[in-house]
Amino acid sequence: MTLHHTDPEVHTIIAQEQQRQQLKLSLIPSENFFSASVREAVGSVFMHKYAEGNIKKRYYEGNVFVDKLESLTIRRAKKAFKLPDEWSVNVQALAGSNANLAVYLALLDIGDTMMGMFLPDGGHLSHGWSYEPKTVQDPHSYIYFGGSRKVNITSRIFKTIQYKTSPLTQQFDYDEVEQIAMEHKPKLIITGGTAYPREIDYHRMKSIAQKVGAYYMADIAHEAGLIAAGAMKSPIGIADVVTMTTHKTLRSGRGALIFAHNDIIKKINRAVLPGLQGGPFNHSIAGICVGLGEVLKPEFKEYAFQTVRNAQFLVEELKRYNFTIVSGGTDKHLILLNLTNKPILGKKFARALDYAGIVANMNTMPQEIRSPADPSALRIGTPWITTRGMKEQEMVQIASWINRVMEICSPWKEYEFDEFEKSVKESVEIQTISDEVKELCLKFPLKI
Ligand SMILES: Cc1ncc(COP(=O)(O)O)c(C=O)c1O
Repeated sequence: MTLHHTDPEVHTIIAQEQQRQQLKLSLIPSENFFSASVREAVGSVFMHKYAEGNIKKRYYEGNVFVDKLESLTIRRAKKAFKLPDEWSVNVQALAGSNANLAVYLALLDIGDTMMGMFLPDGGHLSHGWSYEPKTVQDPHSYIYFGGSRKVNITSRIFKTIQYKTSPLTQQFDYDEVEQIAMEHKPKLIITGGTAYPREIDYHRMKSIAQKVGAYYMADIAHEAGLIAAGAMKSPIGIADVVTMTTHKTLRSGRGALIFAHNDIIKKINRAVLPGLQGGPFNHSIAGICVGLGEVLKPEFKEYAFQTVRNAQFLVEELKRYNFTIVSGGTDKHLILLNLTNKPILGKKFARALDYAGIVANMNTMPQEIRSPADPSALRIGTPWITTRGMKEQEMVQIASWINRVMEICSPWKEYEFDEFEKSVKESVEIQTISDEVKELCLKFPLKI
Protein backbone atom coordinates (compact mmCIF):
# COMPACT_ATOMS: atom_id res chain seq x y z
CA MET A 1 0.00 0.00 0.00
CA THR A 2 1.40 3.36 -0.88
CA LEU A 3 0.49 6.83 0.32
CA HIS A 4 -1.42 7.27 -2.90
CA HIS A 5 -3.92 4.66 -1.65
CA THR A 6 -3.76 5.19 2.11
CA ASP A 7 -3.90 8.98 2.19
CA PRO A 8 -4.61 10.51 -1.21
CA GLU A 9 -5.04 13.94 0.37
CA VAL A 10 -1.44 14.12 1.65
CA HIS A 11 -0.21 12.34 -1.46
CA THR A 12 -1.70 15.09 -3.60
CA ILE A 13 -0.12 17.86 -1.51
CA ILE A 14 3.29 16.15 -1.79
CA ALA A 15 2.85 15.75 -5.54
CA GLN A 16 1.99 19.44 -5.85
CA GLU A 17 5.08 20.46 -3.88
CA GLN A 18 7.16 18.13 -6.05
CA GLN A 19 5.83 19.89 -9.16
CA ARG A 20 6.55 23.30 -7.65
CA GLN A 21 10.14 22.33 -6.92
CA GLN A 22 10.56 20.81 -10.37
CA LEU A 23 9.09 23.72 -12.34
CA LYS A 24 10.34 26.75 -10.40
CA LEU A 25 13.84 28.03 -9.83
CA SER A 26 14.74 28.18 -6.16
CA LEU A 27 17.19 30.99 -5.59
CA ILE A 28 16.83 30.81 -1.81
CA PRO A 29 20.45 30.47 -0.63
CA SER A 30 19.59 28.36 2.42
CA GLU A 31 17.84 25.71 0.32
CA ASN A 32 19.18 22.85 -1.72
CA PHE A 33 17.88 19.71 -3.39
CA PHE A 34 19.13 16.42 -1.93
CA SER A 35 19.97 13.27 -3.85
CA ALA A 36 17.54 10.36 -3.99
CA SER A 37 20.00 8.43 -1.81
CA VAL A 38 19.94 11.08 0.93
CA ARG A 39 16.14 11.11 0.79
CA GLU A 40 15.97 7.31 0.92
CA ALA A 41 18.17 7.28 4.02
CA VAL A 42 16.06 9.98 5.71
CA GLY A 43 12.91 7.97 4.97
CA SER A 44 14.46 4.76 6.33
CA VAL A 45 13.53 2.56 9.30
CA PHE A 46 16.01 4.47 11.45
CA MET A 47 13.14 6.87 12.18
CA HIS A 48 11.56 4.18 14.38
CA LYS A 49 14.39 3.85 16.88
CA TYR A 50 15.07 5.63 20.14
CA ALA A 51 18.78 6.06 20.83
CA GLU A 52 19.23 8.50 23.70
CA GLY A 53 22.87 8.60 24.68
CA ASN A 54 26.14 8.28 22.84
CA ILE A 55 27.79 5.46 20.92
CA LYS A 56 27.94 2.30 23.09
CA LYS A 57 26.46 4.28 25.98
CA ARG A 58 22.76 4.35 25.14
CA TYR A 59 19.84 4.35 27.53
CA TYR A 60 17.94 1.99 25.21
CA GLU A 61 18.77 -1.48 23.91
CA GLY A 62 18.78 -2.40 20.25
CA ASN A 63 21.19 0.28 19.08
CA VAL A 64 23.90 -1.84 17.44
CA PHE A 65 23.13 -0.42 14.01
CA VAL A 66 22.43 3.10 15.23
CA ASP A 67 25.92 3.00 16.78
CA LYS A 68 27.36 1.78 13.51
CA LEU A 69 25.59 4.56 11.61
CA GLU A 70 26.62 7.30 14.04
CA SER A 71 30.26 6.11 14.03
CA LEU A 72 30.33 6.16 10.24
CA THR A 73 28.77 9.64 10.16
CA ILE A 74 31.38 10.91 12.60
CA ARG A 75 34.20 9.39 10.53
CA ARG A 76 32.86 10.97 7.35
CA ALA A 77 32.31 14.35 9.01
CA LYS A 78 35.89 14.35 10.32
CA LYS A 79 37.21 13.52 6.87
CA ALA A 80 35.01 16.03 5.04
CA PHE A 81 36.12 18.89 7.28
CA LYS A 82 39.74 17.70 7.73
CA LEU A 83 39.38 17.68 11.47
CA PRO A 84 42.57 17.98 13.52
CA ASP A 85 43.16 15.11 15.98
CA GLU A 86 42.40 17.33 18.96
CA TRP A 87 38.87 18.08 17.66
CA SER A 88 35.65 16.01 17.82
CA VAL A 89 32.15 16.19 16.37
CA ASN A 90 28.59 15.89 17.63
CA VAL A 91 26.08 14.78 14.97
CA GLN A 92 22.94 14.69 17.12
CA ALA A 93 21.65 18.28 17.29
CA LEU A 94 18.30 18.44 15.51
CA ALA A 95 18.87 21.71 13.67
CA GLY A 96 21.19 24.70 13.40
CA SER A 97 19.47 26.78 16.08
CA ASN A 98 19.50 23.84 18.50
CA ALA A 99 23.19 23.26 17.82
CA ASN A 100 23.93 26.90 18.64
CA LEU A 101 21.85 26.78 21.80
CA ALA A 102 23.70 23.65 22.89
CA VAL A 103 27.00 25.48 22.54
CA TYR A 104 25.72 28.39 24.63
CA LEU A 105 24.42 26.06 27.32
CA ALA A 106 27.76 24.30 27.39
CA LEU A 107 29.97 27.37 27.52
CA LEU A 108 27.94 30.09 29.22
CA ASP A 109 26.08 30.61 32.46
CA ILE A 110 22.67 32.24 32.45
CA GLY A 111 23.14 36.00 32.27
CA ASP A 112 26.60 35.88 30.67
CA THR A 113 27.32 38.21 27.77
CA MET A 114 27.48 36.90 24.23
CA MET A 115 28.20 38.90 21.12
CA GLY A 116 27.06 38.15 17.57
CA MET A 117 26.46 40.00 14.32
CA PHE A 118 23.55 42.46 14.09
CA LEU A 119 20.60 40.63 12.53
CA PRO A 120 19.67 43.25 9.90
CA ASP A 121 23.31 43.16 8.70
CA GLY A 122 23.05 39.43 8.10
CA GLY A 123 23.37 37.80 11.53
CA HIS A 124 21.07 35.00 12.74
CA LEU A 125 18.21 35.01 15.24
CA SER A 126 19.95 32.35 17.31
CA HIS A 127 22.95 34.64 17.83
CA GLY A 128 21.06 36.70 20.41
CA TRP A 129 18.40 38.73 18.63
CA SER A 130 16.02 41.12 20.35
CA TYR A 131 14.80 44.54 19.26
CA GLU A 132 12.88 47.64 20.22
CA PRO A 133 9.88 48.24 17.95
CA LYS A 134 9.58 51.57 16.15
CA THR A 135 13.04 52.84 16.99
CA VAL A 136 15.36 54.25 14.38
CA GLN A 137 18.89 52.91 14.29
CA ASP A 138 21.85 55.24 14.58
CA PRO A 139 23.54 54.69 11.18
CA HIS A 140 26.97 55.53 12.61
CA SER A 141 26.91 53.22 15.60
CA TYR A 142 28.73 49.89 15.36
CA ILE A 143 26.99 48.35 18.34
CA TYR A 144 23.45 47.23 19.13
CA PHE A 145 22.21 46.35 22.59
CA GLY A 146 18.87 44.89 21.53
CA GLY A 147 15.50 45.86 22.94
CA SER A 148 12.48 44.76 24.92
CA ARG A 149 11.19 42.32 22.28
CA LYS A 150 13.27 39.31 23.24
CA VAL A 151 12.10 37.26 20.28
CA ASN A 152 14.82 34.62 20.51
CA ILE A 153 15.43 32.60 23.66
CA THR A 154 19.12 33.53 23.51
CA SER A 155 18.27 37.15 24.27
CA ARG A 156 16.08 36.09 27.21
CA ILE A 157 18.64 34.03 29.01
CA PHE A 158 21.88 35.79 28.11
CA LYS A 159 22.99 39.37 27.86
CA THR A 160 23.35 39.85 24.13
CA ILE A 161 25.17 42.55 22.25
CA GLN A 162 25.64 42.77 18.51
CA TYR A 163 28.29 44.28 16.26
CA LYS A 164 27.42 45.86 12.92
CA THR A 165 29.17 45.88 9.58
CA SER A 166 30.93 48.97 8.27
CA PRO A 167 28.51 51.51 6.75
CA LEU A 168 31.12 52.15 4.06
CA THR A 169 31.97 48.63 2.93
CA GLN A 170 29.04 46.68 4.42
CA GLN A 171 31.71 44.19 5.50
CA PHE A 172 33.25 43.40 8.89
CA ASP A 173 35.24 46.19 10.46
CA TYR A 174 37.50 44.08 12.67
CA ASP A 175 38.91 47.05 14.57
CA GLU A 176 35.39 48.07 15.61
CA VAL A 177 34.53 44.49 16.56
CA GLU A 178 37.68 44.40 18.69
CA GLN A 179 36.85 47.67 20.38
CA ILE A 180 33.34 46.50 21.27
CA ALA A 181 34.72 43.20 22.58
CA MET A 182 37.35 45.01 24.67
CA GLU A 183 34.70 47.28 26.16
CA HIS A 184 32.00 44.68 26.91
CA LYS A 185 34.12 41.57 27.54
CA PRO A 186 31.70 38.96 26.17
CA LYS A 187 32.26 35.37 27.21
CA LEU A 188 31.42 34.17 23.71
CA ILE A 189 31.95 35.82 20.33
CA ILE A 190 30.03 34.51 17.32
CA THR A 191 30.49 34.98 13.60
CA GLY A 192 28.36 33.74 10.76
CA GLY A 193 25.03 34.70 9.38
CA THR A 194 22.17 34.21 7.00
CA ALA A 195 22.82 37.12 4.72
CA TYR A 196 26.50 38.01 4.88
CA PRO A 197 28.02 37.46 1.43
CA ARG A 198 31.69 37.72 2.33
CA GLU A 199 34.56 35.65 3.74
CA ILE A 200 35.27 36.13 7.44
CA ASP A 201 38.80 36.46 8.81
CA TYR A 202 38.65 33.62 11.34
CA HIS A 203 42.21 34.18 12.56
CA ARG A 204 41.47 37.81 13.38
CA MET A 205 38.24 36.90 15.17
CA LYS A 206 40.03 34.25 17.22
CA SER A 207 42.69 36.76 18.22
CA ILE A 208 39.99 39.24 19.31
CA ALA A 209 38.34 36.49 21.36
CA GLN A 210 41.68 35.55 22.93
CA LYS A 211 42.37 39.17 23.87
CA VAL A 212 39.17 39.37 25.91
CA GLY A 213 39.21 35.79 27.21
CA ALA A 214 36.14 34.77 25.20
CA TYR A 215 35.30 31.56 23.40
CA TYR A 216 34.94 31.97 19.65
CA MET A 217 32.17 30.15 17.80
CA ALA A 218 31.99 30.21 13.99
CA ASP A 219 28.52 29.37 12.68
CA ILE A 220 29.07 28.22 9.08
CA ALA A 221 25.48 27.06 8.50
CA HIS A 222 25.40 28.62 5.05
CA GLU A 223 28.84 27.95 3.66
CA ALA A 224 29.57 24.51 5.18
CA GLY A 225 29.57 22.73 1.81
CA LEU A 226 31.76 25.38 0.20
CA ILE A 227 34.22 25.08 3.10
CA ALA A 228 34.28 21.28 2.97
CA ALA A 229 35.07 21.48 -0.73
CA GLY A 230 37.82 24.08 -0.25
CA ALA A 231 35.92 26.82 -2.10
CA MET A 232 36.01 28.98 1.04
CA LYS A 233 38.34 29.24 4.04
CA SER A 234 37.67 27.03 7.05
CA PRO A 235 37.44 28.04 10.73
CA ILE A 236 38.03 24.44 11.87
CA GLY A 237 41.07 24.34 14.11
CA ILE A 238 40.99 28.13 14.50
CA ALA A 239 37.73 28.84 16.32
CA ASP A 240 36.96 27.01 19.57
CA VAL A 241 33.76 25.61 18.17
CA VAL A 242 32.14 25.46 14.75
CA THR A 243 28.43 24.84 14.15
CA MET A 244 26.68 24.23 10.86
CA THR A 245 23.45 23.08 9.30
CA THR A 246 23.68 20.13 6.94
CA HIS A 247 20.88 21.14 4.58
CA LYS A 248 22.22 24.19 2.82
CA THR A 249 25.39 24.10 0.69
CA LEU A 250 26.40 20.84 2.41
CA ARG A 251 23.41 19.15 0.65
CA SER A 252 23.09 16.36 3.21
CA GLY A 253 19.51 16.43 4.48
CA ARG A 254 18.22 18.42 7.44
CA GLY A 255 20.24 18.54 10.63
CA ALA A 256 23.32 20.03 12.20
CA LEU A 257 26.90 19.26 13.13
CA ILE A 258 28.95 20.71 15.97
CA PHE A 259 32.74 20.54 15.78
CA ALA A 260 34.77 21.49 18.82
CA HIS A 261 38.09 21.17 20.49
CA ASN A 262 38.31 18.04 22.66
CA ASP A 263 38.55 20.28 25.76
CA ILE A 264 34.92 21.30 25.38
CA ILE A 265 33.19 18.62 23.30
CA LYS A 266 32.05 16.62 26.36
CA LYS A 267 30.28 19.68 27.74
CA ILE A 268 28.66 20.22 24.36
CA ASN A 269 27.56 16.58 24.09
CA ARG A 270 25.92 16.89 27.50
CA ALA A 271 24.23 20.14 26.48
CA VAL A 272 22.72 18.45 23.41
CA LEU A 273 21.54 15.48 25.51
CA PRO A 274 20.20 15.63 28.20
CA GLY A 275 20.48 19.46 28.17
CA LEU A 276 18.21 20.19 25.26
CA GLN A 277 16.73 17.12 23.64
CA GLY A 278 15.87 13.46 24.01
CA GLY A 279 16.50 10.93 21.27
CA PRO A 280 18.48 11.96 18.21
CA PHE A 281 16.79 11.82 14.79
CA ASN A 282 18.64 8.70 13.58
CA HIS A 283 16.99 8.97 10.18
CA SER A 284 18.32 12.52 9.76
CA ILE A 285 21.76 11.27 10.80
CA ALA A 286 21.43 8.57 8.11
CA GLY A 287 20.75 11.33 5.54
CA ILE A 288 23.70 13.36 6.79
CA CYS A 289 25.92 10.28 6.56
CA VAL A 290 24.95 9.63 2.94
CA GLY A 291 25.27 13.34 2.11
CA LEU A 292 28.77 13.47 3.64
CA GLY A 293 29.66 10.43 1.54
CA GLU A 294 28.72 12.52 -1.50
CA VAL A 295 30.66 15.52 -0.17
CA LEU A 296 33.79 13.35 -0.15
CA LYS A 297 33.51 12.65 -3.89
CA PRO A 298 35.35 14.81 -6.45
CA GLU A 299 32.04 15.82 -8.10
CA PHE A 300 31.08 17.71 -4.95
CA LYS A 301 34.21 19.83 -5.15
CA GLU A 302 33.27 20.77 -8.71
CA TYR A 303 29.72 21.53 -7.53
CA ALA A 304 30.90 23.84 -4.74
CA PHE A 305 33.29 25.81 -6.92
CA GLN A 306 30.62 26.11 -9.64
CA THR A 307 28.13 27.36 -7.03
CA VAL A 308 30.47 30.24 -6.18
CA ARG A 309 31.31 30.92 -9.85
CA ASN A 310 27.59 31.06 -10.65
CA ALA A 311 26.92 33.51 -7.83
CA GLN A 312 29.81 35.76 -8.86
CA PHE A 313 28.73 35.64 -12.50
CA LEU A 314 25.14 36.44 -11.51
CA VAL A 315 26.41 39.46 -9.57
CA GLU A 316 28.16 40.82 -12.66
CA GLU A 317 25.08 40.25 -14.83
CA LEU A 318 22.80 41.96 -12.31
CA LYS A 319 25.15 44.92 -12.09
CA ARG A 320 24.70 45.37 -15.86
CA TYR A 321 21.02 46.04 -15.09
CA ASN A 322 21.96 48.57 -12.45
CA PHE A 323 21.16 46.36 -9.47
CA THR A 324 23.09 47.38 -6.36
CA ILE A 325 24.86 44.51 -4.63
CA VAL A 326 25.37 44.76 -0.87
CA SER A 327 29.12 44.81 -0.13
CA GLY A 328 29.76 45.09 -3.88
CA GLY A 329 29.79 41.35 -4.58
CA THR A 330 30.00 37.91 -3.06
CA ASP A 331 32.62 35.37 -2.00
CA LYS A 332 30.12 32.55 -1.72
CA HIS A 333 26.73 31.28 -2.89
CA LEU A 334 24.71 34.20 -1.56
CA ILE A 335 23.86 37.61 -2.98
CA LEU A 336 22.01 40.47 -1.32
CA LEU A 337 20.36 43.00 -3.64
CA ASN A 338 19.88 46.48 -2.22
CA LEU A 339 16.74 47.56 -4.07
CA THR A 340 16.59 51.14 -2.84
CA ASN A 341 17.57 52.47 -6.27
CA LYS A 342 14.73 50.50 -7.86
CA PRO A 343 10.98 51.17 -7.83
CA ILE A 344 10.03 47.89 -6.12
CA LEU A 345 11.44 46.72 -2.79
CA GLY A 346 11.95 43.24 -1.28
CA LYS A 347 8.47 42.16 -0.26
CA LYS A 348 6.69 43.03 -3.50
CA PHE A 349 9.63 41.98 -5.65
CA ALA A 350 9.89 38.54 -4.04
CA ARG A 351 6.17 37.95 -4.63
CA ALA A 352 6.37 39.13 -8.26
CA LEU A 353 9.37 36.89 -8.91
CA ASP A 354 7.51 33.93 -7.43
CA TYR A 355 4.68 34.42 -9.96
CA ALA A 356 7.39 34.48 -12.61
CA GLY A 357 8.67 31.12 -11.35
CA ILE A 358 11.72 32.47 -9.49
CA VAL A 359 11.67 31.82 -5.75
CA ALA A 360 13.69 34.21 -3.55
CA ASN A 361 13.20 35.92 -0.21
CA MET A 362 12.87 39.48 1.02
CA ASN A 363 15.61 40.47 3.44
CA THR A 364 16.89 43.32 5.55
CA MET A 365 20.26 44.82 4.68
CA PRO A 366 22.95 46.88 6.41
CA GLN A 367 21.69 50.38 7.34
CA GLU A 368 18.15 49.07 7.01
CA ILE A 369 15.48 51.64 7.83
CA ARG A 370 12.46 49.44 7.08
CA SER A 371 10.79 46.60 8.94
CA PRO A 372 11.88 42.96 8.35
CA ALA A 373 8.27 42.36 7.21
CA ASP A 374 8.73 44.82 4.35
CA PRO A 375 12.47 45.34 3.94
CA SER A 376 14.66 47.00 1.32
CA ALA A 377 16.54 44.00 0.01
CA LEU A 378 16.19 40.66 -1.74
CA ARG A 379 18.35 37.65 -0.93
CA ILE A 380 19.22 35.19 -3.68
CA GLY A 381 21.70 32.35 -4.07
CA THR A 382 22.92 29.58 -6.29
CA PRO A 383 23.13 26.25 -4.33
CA TRP A 384 19.94 24.73 -5.71
CA ILE A 385 20.24 25.88 -9.33
CA THR A 386 23.83 24.64 -9.40
CA THR A 387 22.62 21.25 -8.14
CA ARG A 388 20.33 21.29 -11.20
CA GLY A 389 23.48 21.59 -13.33
CA MET A 390 23.13 25.24 -14.32
CA LYS A 391 26.22 27.23 -15.20
CA GLU A 392 27.24 30.75 -16.26
CA GLN A 393 25.10 30.70 -19.41
CA GLU A 394 21.95 30.15 -17.37
CA MET A 395 22.96 32.95 -14.97
CA VAL A 396 22.77 35.37 -17.93
CA GLN A 397 19.21 34.28 -18.53
CA ILE A 398 18.22 34.40 -14.85
CA ALA A 399 19.59 37.94 -14.41
CA SER A 400 17.66 39.06 -17.46
CA TRP A 401 14.41 37.59 -16.07
CA ILE A 402 14.99 39.26 -12.70
CA ASN A 403 15.43 42.57 -14.47
CA ARG A 404 12.38 42.04 -16.69
CA VAL A 405 10.19 41.34 -13.67
CA MET A 406 11.40 44.57 -12.07
CA GLU A 407 10.62 46.51 -15.27
CA ILE A 408 7.19 44.94 -15.71
CA CYS A 409 6.22 45.74 -12.10
CA SER A 410 7.58 49.28 -12.02
CA PRO A 411 4.32 50.98 -13.08
CA TRP A 412 2.60 49.38 -10.04
CA LYS A 413 5.06 50.70 -7.49
CA GLU A 414 2.51 52.88 -5.66
CA TYR A 415 -0.06 50.09 -5.33
CA GLU A 416 -0.91 48.55 -1.97
CA PHE A 417 0.39 44.98 -1.68
CA ASP A 418 -2.89 43.20 -2.57
CA GLU A 419 -3.48 45.34 -5.63
CA PHE A 420 0.16 44.91 -6.64
CA GLU A 421 -0.15 41.14 -6.36
CA LYS A 422 -3.38 41.17 -8.39
CA SER A 423 -1.64 43.09 -11.18
CA VAL A 424 1.26 40.64 -11.16
CA LYS A 425 -1.08 37.67 -11.18
CA GLU A 426 -2.99 39.00 -14.18
CA SER A 427 0.10 40.03 -16.14
CA VAL A 428 0.56 38.17 -19.41
CA GLU A 429 4.22 39.21 -19.46
CA ILE A 430 4.86 37.68 -16.02
CA GLN A 431 3.09 34.52 -17.18
CA THR A 432 5.35 34.44 -20.25
CA ILE A 433 8.45 34.58 -18.03
CA SER A 434 7.02 31.81 -15.86
CA ASP A 435 6.58 29.65 -19.00
CA GLU A 436 10.18 30.39 -20.04
CA VAL A 437 11.40 29.48 -16.54
CA LYS A 438 9.52 26.18 -16.73
CA GLU A 439 11.20 25.43 -20.03
CA LEU A 440 14.62 26.01 -18.52
CA CYS A 441 13.75 23.91 -15.47
CA LEU A 442 12.74 21.02 -17.70
CA LYS A 443 16.10 21.25 -19.45
CA PHE A 444 17.74 20.82 -16.01
CA PRO A 445 15.34 18.40 -14.32
CA LEU A 446 15.59 17.46 -10.67
CA LYS A 447 16.11 13.75 -10.14
CA ILE A 448 12.95 13.16 -8.10
C1 LIG B 1 23.83 31.22 10.18
C2 LIG B 1 22.70 30.34 10.58
N1 LIG B 1 22.72 29.73 11.76
C3 LIG B 1 21.72 28.94 12.17
C4 LIG B 1 20.63 28.70 11.36
C5 LIG B 1 19.50 27.90 11.91
O1 LIG B 1 19.32 26.69 11.31
P1 LIG B 1 17.95 25.90 11.52
O2 LIG B 1 16.95 26.54 10.63
O3 LIG B 1 18.33 24.50 11.11
O4 LIG B 1 17.58 26.00 12.96
C6 LIG B 1 20.56 29.30 10.11
C7 LIG B 1 19.39 29.06 9.25
O5 LIG B 1 19.15 29.65 8.27
C8 LIG B 1 21.61 30.15 9.70
O6 LIG B 1 21.59 30.76 8.53
